[in-house]
Amino acid sequence: LFSAVEMAPRDPILGLNEQFAADPNPNKVNLGVGVYFDDDGKLPLLECVQQAEKAMMEKPSARGYLPIDGIAAYDNAVKGLVFGSASEPVVSGRVATVQALGGTGGLKIGADFLKRLSPGAKVLISDPSWENHRALFTNAGFHVETYAYYDADRRGVNFDAMLASLNAAPVGTIVVLHACCHNPTGYDITSAQWDQVVAVVKTRGLTAFLDMAYQGFGHGIQEDGAVIQKFVAAGLTFFVSTSFSKSFSLYGERVGALSVLCQDKDEAARVLSQLKIMIRTNYSNPPTHGGAVVAAVLNTPQLRALWEQELAGMRARIKVMRQKLVDGLKAAGVQQDMSFMTQQIGMFSYSGLSKDQMVRLRNEFGVYGTDTGRICVAALNSKNIDYVCQAIAKVV
Ligand code: LMR
Repeated sequence: LFSAVEMAPRDPILGLNEQFAADPNPNKVNLGVGVYFDDDGKLPLLECVQQAEKAMMEKPSARGYLPIDGIAAYDNAVKGLVFGSASEPVVSGRVATVQALGGTGGLKIGADFLKRLSPGAKVLISDPSWENHRALFTNAGFHVETYAYYDADRRGVNFDAMLASLNAAPVGTIVVLHACCHNPTGYDITSAQWDQVVAVVKTRGLTAFLDMAYQGFGHGIQEDGAVIQKFVAAGLTFFVSTSFSKSFSLYGERVGALSVLCQDKDEAARVLSQLKIMIRTNYSNPPTHGGAVVAAVLNTPQLRALWEQELAGMRARIKVMRQKLVDGLKAAGVQQDMSFMTQQIGMFSYSGLSKDQMVRLRNEFGVYGTDTGRICVAALNSKNIDYVCQAIAKVV
């Protein structure tokens, strides 16, 4: 049965973790996967999470099956975070939200549902996009193409080309958009440009699927979620996937969500019933712990304020490291102006380094980033920054 099974390539992002773990280099630095580490190089366990867990442990509860769509208080908190708890879509009951296994799980539930709704639709992802977008939508049965996005020469978004790609898309095309902190480039479009994208989505009859994995890592929780309001104001129905992996530092809990904005409450109930089938036939129902922690934090004012403060701290530290990276590269002798790195936003910097340079960084210095030149600025700290800058200086 298995004799003809071929060896699959390593995952372009998570595969780096495996390689990193096996690397004996004592100076190794993992800038591959999008994970935030503190200035001591440690994965933080947020204080708000610890306090929520402590309160939960004081009243331990048995672990029955959750409802298929997850913890109601969690789903409601997600709706509030994404759309605003007093917003018209939430108050009118036209948002269908399900707890999902991380942001990836939200994307996959949405992709499976869309495949049933629009089996012949094409999916457009940005060029480039998160490495898993193409694979995930392809595995859901879609034909995946790209819309123009990154302009390597100008170091930024080629917005005219992006708009032209979207304008040329057939009616019903599913467009995967990064709500904030574009992964991998770190370049977002402006608020005015979003208005134009929303207008094209509306006039061309496209289906928007917003991936919001980094809310709070750009300019702030509200600011990063502002694009959602634009789609709502345009009267569109659309999909949003949410991840709390990064914003709560709960990577291994696989805690995320999918929200679908529908036309009315009745439609939302029907959509929810279908999403539940996608979940039930894949993994039955979600796990308890991560969702319970996030719900407790988001629904308890004191813990929520603490979370916002801790998230702001992570966001600020990343910005400091961006500047240190630019300064450090200059000090290490890199001639090229790298100040573009401070214009990028979120966890990543698209460094402009070639695949050969990234491979050299890995093999000769134990500095891991993706082959595409993406490095996770959120994993830099005051102890590894000089080493990383010197390593980069040697390969450029
Ligand atoms: C990343 O892009 O590194 C993260 O989103 C982690 C992942 O699942 O790929």
